[in-house]
Amino acid sequence: MHISAPVEADFLISNMRPIPFYRHDLGEAELEMVKEVLGQPILTTGEYVERAERMFADYLGVPHCLCVTSCTGALHMSLLALGIGPGDEVITTPMTFIATATSIIEAGARPIFVDVEPASGNLDASIVEAAITPRTKAILPVHLFGLMCDMRALRAIADRHGLAIIEDSAHCVEGLRDGVRPGALGETACFSFYATKTLTCGEGGAVIARDVALYEKLRLLRLHGMNKIAADRAREGYTHWDMIVMGWKYNMSNIEAALLLPQFARLDSKLAQREALARRYAARLAGIPGVRLPIQSTGPNDVHARHLFPIWIANGRRDEVVTKLKQRRVDAMVNYRSIHLLNYFRDTFGFKAEDFPIAKEIGDSTLSLPFFPAMSDQDLDTVVDHLHTILEEPRRAVG
Ligand SMILES: Cc1ncc(COP(=O)(O)O)c(C=O)c1O
Repeated sequence: MHISAPVEADFLISNMRPIPFYRHDLGEAELEMVKEVLGQPILTTGEYVERAERMFADYLGVPHCLCVTSCTGALHMSLLALGIGPGDEVITTPMTFIATATSIIEAGARPIFVDVEPASGNLDASIVEAAITPRTKAILPVHLFGLMCDMRALRAIADRHGLAIIEDSAHCVEGLRDGVRPGALGETACFSFYATKTLTCGEGGAVIARDVALYEKLRLLRLHGMNKIAADRAREGYTHWDMIVMGWKYNMSNIEAALLLPQFARLDSKLAQREALARRYAARLAGIPGVRLPIQSTGPNDVHARHLFPIWIANGRRDEVVTKLKQRRVDAMVNYRSIHLLNYFRDTFGFKAEDFPIAKEIGDSTLSLPFFPAMSDQDLDTVVDHLHTILEEPRRAVG
């Protein structure tokens, strides 16, 4: 039987093995730990959460950590604990997930966007100072894709103007730049344990702080402003608790902490796997016209946390490429379109597309390729081959 070429191509594509964007590696160890928690009386915040907090603080080399329900909550709490609210401005980046900016709005303050570096997509420290006004209270940088911002430059600016720094480290657990790790120079750093993150419990997050007084404020804000929690009552027996301040409901449960605990020991080996994949992607993508990579390293001793593997597609072809990859069963994502272009931000703050041209350009061209520790070299090569084929095809509208 004769099969015409397009039908044959369609047949081949429908038989392709799907390549997922991300696959978690939670398994037996996590199941065992959850079983252990289910055998205990306290399912809510307790011993397992405290153990996760200790392990995460030790990993990052900071004294204090609180596990919470999300990075969004951690950012919101940080702003509140630093006394930031209505009438205040917080400088941040538009090249991020919306939660970075919505946490500022939740606190009652106003996000002030500053454009980003063309090579990395990170907040451009060299133009931050021009955006500072008498209302500015903090800078909220994002270590985008896992590459740390220039924290030494940002700290110097913050110190000159008496500002706090809250780091959105949702993408960056293992990062290091110029000897600086997440949370080493910021008042707080906030992390996400969302379903596709380096460390995950489905939904969750953490906030780290170096100052004990700030940590104590965060602890109250995390759970209704109460001075005792269920685990204290279980340890000490019932005594009246008090509500000290207005607080929120951001506490992590022992069940989520049980999912996190076995993962700390695997952090570095999983980073090494992602680093090897990133190097292979970079080498294989090098000759493909129309593909650029963000900066891969800030210095020989620095560490890129490699949360995502973004590429930048030239000539306005990004959306076409995402669609055609999906047709070939390769799950690609966009992280992110610059958020000043989203309707809510345009309507509320009057932003125009051209206000942040570098963020717009990156947001219009960026595409995240499948990337997770257990991804095989073969799958990676298949992704690159598809990309190459798509970019060699003449541009064609896709439906
Ligand atoms: C840069 C950035 N900030 C904040 C968040 C919010 O994290 P969560 O979902 O844990 O609230 C995310 C989540 O993807 C993110 O990518």
